Amino acid sequence: MPKPKFQTPKGMHDIFGENWKYFDKIFEVVKSFAKFYNFERIETPVLEEAELFTKGIGLATDIVQKEMFLLKTKGGDYLALRPEGTAPVVRAYIQHGMQNLPQPVKLWYFSQFFRYEHPQAGRFRQFWQFGFEILGKQAPALDTQIILIFYNILKELGFEALAIKINSIGDSFCRPYYKKTLISYLKHRSYALCPDCKRRLKENPLRILDCKEEKCRQIISEAPQILNHLCENCKNHLKTVLEFLDDLQLPYHLDPYLVRGLDYYTKTVFEISEETEKGKAVGALVGGGRYDNLAKILGGLEMPGVGGAGGVERIIELLKEKRIKIYKEKKPKIFLAQIGDLAKRKALKIVEEFRKENLPIYESIEKDSLKSQMKLADKLGVKYVLILGHQEALNEEILLRDMETGKQKKIRLKNLIKEVKKYL
Ligand code: HAM
Repeated sequence: MPKPKFQTPKGMHDIFGENWKYFDKIFEVVKSFAKFYNFERIETPVLEEAELFTKGIGLATDIVQKEMFLLKTKGGDYLALRPEGTAPVVRAYIQHGMQNLPQPVKLWYFSQFFRYEHPQAGRFRQFWQFGFEILGKQAPALDTQIILIFYNILKELGFEALAIKINSIGDSFCRPYYKKTLISYLKHRSYALCPDCKRRLKENPLRILDCKEEKCRQIISEAPQILNHLCENCKNHLKTVLEFLDDLQLPYHLDPYLVRGLDYYTKTVFEISEETEKGKAVGALVGGGRYDNLAKILGGLEMPGVGGAGGVERIIELLKEKRIKIYKEKKPKIFLAQIGDLAKRKALKIVEEFRKENLPIYESIEKDSLKSQMKLADKLGVKYVLILGHQEALNEEILLRDMETGKQKKIRLKNLIKEVKKYL
């Protein structure tokens, strides 16, 4: 077959068939957690002012430098397809005066995001995330609760080898000092860094800590660690978060090299992955952290926050890889066959009665021949077929055929729903 002329753009995909079953199940689990923990749903526009992200995520980050889909409107505004959800949620909090509501404000989303990334395992240019954000309070218990929610969502979906990585990257008080110490250590070794890290040394030195290049890893393994340079406040915050995680017996690993790719984080950062070969290839399933300065950067408001987001496609990819079935097939047990115009008209009404009663039923209303309808019923593997011929339609009756035994029974149309319920 020749290649079709039109295909989905690179890194983007159609969602259809079985994939919706995974999406629906993940949505259902996420929604049930949101409901239990009293999060309100929020959906922000797909497009935002580009400056929201350049300011919020940071000019020196990969997302802003390389990955934003940008456009200029006819009116001359610069807009960006949202690459993530935290900056828009904080923008909404400020815009709608949510600081006047009882704090913290808890918001969740299940939305699509866009990043101009090089498509590979677990990386797409259009993808879905579910996110939870707790805004307006600084308590370490909230950091733990966010991690707990994501961990338990992944558990409930069936993952069994989950690993939580956690770190503190300090705040505006202690991080600048650490940055200076790190830069002076790296400067003396910059000749041996990979080209990307040479650039990062000038623009975003902390990102060097999670470089995967072997020659950089060697240098990083002896670099000064941020955990030894935290101020009292950040140290205590981290200590309390870890104590709560211990109490909950969550399997975390304190990783001093975890820095994450967004500049808005302060104090806690975390990632959750599934520990398998494929898991390593697709990367973290969930990422998040605390962002106490983001509201100030965006609108001059003091508003701490903590949250995280999970990548839906990555989760689905791993569930499939591990053959974890997260949905049950609920197929109808009955097929409705009709022959003739009068029967067809009545069949349309019968299907409606089934829908109102929430009883699943297959039909093939466009078909005329009984043979082709029976063939289809057989293929679908239904237990019963309702047969409505012209004579039955005139007599206000219908036949119920048991497909295993071949036995048939006449039912009065007015009693159909009541009778059928006995068989389901
Ligand atoms: P992030 O780590 O950039 O964080 O993304 C969160 C998750 O989204 C990742 O762990 C991954 O599963 C998924 N993801 C990211 N990029 C892609 C992609 N190109 N293709 C497929 N999946 C992807 C954030 O976005 C933060 N806003 C999370 C957060 C919320 N922090 C605080 N609150």
